[in-house]
Amino acid sequence: MSDRGSFNSKLGIVLASAGSAVGLGNIWRFPTEVGSNGGAAFILVYLAFVFLFAMPVMVGEFVIGRASHTNTVDAYRKLAGGSKWVLAGYLGVLGGAMVLSFYSVVAGWTLKYTFDSLTGQICWDADHAGVFSGFVSSPVLSLTCMAAFMAASHLVVVRGVHEGIERYSKLMMPMLLVIIMVLVCCSLAMPGAGKGLSFLFHPDFSKVTAPVVLSAMGQAFFSLSVGLGCLGTYASYFGKNTRLVRSAFNVCAIDTLVAVTCGIIIFPAVFSVDSAQVDAGPGLVFITLPRVFHTAFSGMPVLCYSFSSLFYLLLLLAALTSSISMHELCTAFVSEKYGMARSRAAGLVTVVCSLFGAACAMSFGPWKDMTFLGMGVFDWFDFLTAKFIMPLGGLLITAFVGWYMDREMVESQLTNWGTLRIRSLRILMLLIRWVAPIGVGLVFLNELLPLLR
Ligand code: PHE
Repeated sequence: MSDRGSFNSKLGIVLASAGSAVGLGNIWRFPTEVGSNGGAAFILVYLAFVFLFAMPVMVGEFVIGRASHTNTVDAYRKLAGGSKWVLAGYLGVLGGAMVLSFYSVVAGWTLKYTFDSLTGQICWDADHAGVFSGFVSSPVLSLTCMAAFMAASHLVVVRGVHEGIERYSKLMMPMLLVIIMVLVCCSLAMPGAGKGLSFLFHPDFSKVTAPVVLSAMGQAFFSLSVGLGCLGTYASYFGKNTRLVRSAFNVCAIDTLVAVTCGIIIFPAVFSVDSAQVDAGPGLVFITLPRVFHTAFSGMPVLCYSFSSLFYLLLLLAALTSSISMHELCTAFVSEKYGMARSRAAGLVTVVCSLFGAACAMSFGPWKDMTFLGMGVFDWFDFLTAKFIMPLGGLLITAFVGWYMDREMVESQLTNWGTLRIRSLRILMLLIRWVAPIGVGLVFLNELLPLLR
């Protein structure tokens, strides 16, 4: 186990896992989904999914990871012999590689926007929609940004668990939290902030339809990074004293708090300029917000400069701490399965995911018209992972831990070999065995049945 590396501190474990969870999903995807799906009602459904479904899956991943001390595919091999369960591990690695690919495209955009805000360009541009579509449709620019981001995540992962992932998470996560606090204060001080807050906190249940429920579940899984094995891989580097249930709860709480806080940053700012833009979709952060910075701070270049630079830096850091967890999921698998050195395995993952990422990036430019059922490559990667592979992975993980694994082994992981008393153990087991798998299964069926008819 020693040459696999390990996390060296409790703080490192929580920050690295929270770093995986807090990412573009919180700052870019969550407000986009909230804006398009009716605000507060969506948030309530989302919260239920986080604590009833996604958290039990996270605990399950932690159990599998720490009980096996190996990558996600070999974990199933070790715990379930030669059975078909390893397919769940392969599904996770495939999903992780797919998320990393399309994620790096958007992360590449944030790199460009960070650069543009640091040079002040964002505050001068007037046609933000034009700038955005010009950028994403230019293959050279968007591929370069995507590759630069992928290289950054590569550089962290090659350094290993302690020197790379733990060290950089401990550096980046506190920076991220400070930036969030500063931005909340700025956003709440904007005129019209109250309207943004009431959109965020007044539920309209008429908007809660079946697709909205599926989106909320996909968002919960995506935002908490569960269902693929990223956190399971991190858990394979946890020590004997790590409290699995408490760590999972902390990660869920930090992630949810950050997502809602990002809503508090974005919606008041958007409402203070143009409330019609709340459901602008994926362009919310890259078109609407630059317009907000430009309009709200016109004549105050220093404020525009500081606010926009901080915001895109936040997005970039968050994206990086998440992408390293997907990168690690795949790297640990390649290196342990094929006996490769970490650096070579990481290099292979970087190259393969960059190629997939390039295909995703091209679907905004030259491959725009290459669609299947109305969706391009990028949309397919997003749809298949968040709405299909991650929930299915979650279902398999809870079924494995709740029904296949030896109950005593699971409980000894949860209680650190009987040294901890977990008061909610029975409730947790109920969630893992029944609530999460049945709930996820029902949401799936509800979605699939109309397709089969
Ligand atoms: N949770 C990350 C986010 O919110 C995305 C992610 C998905 C990370 C899957 C790892 C695995 O941005």
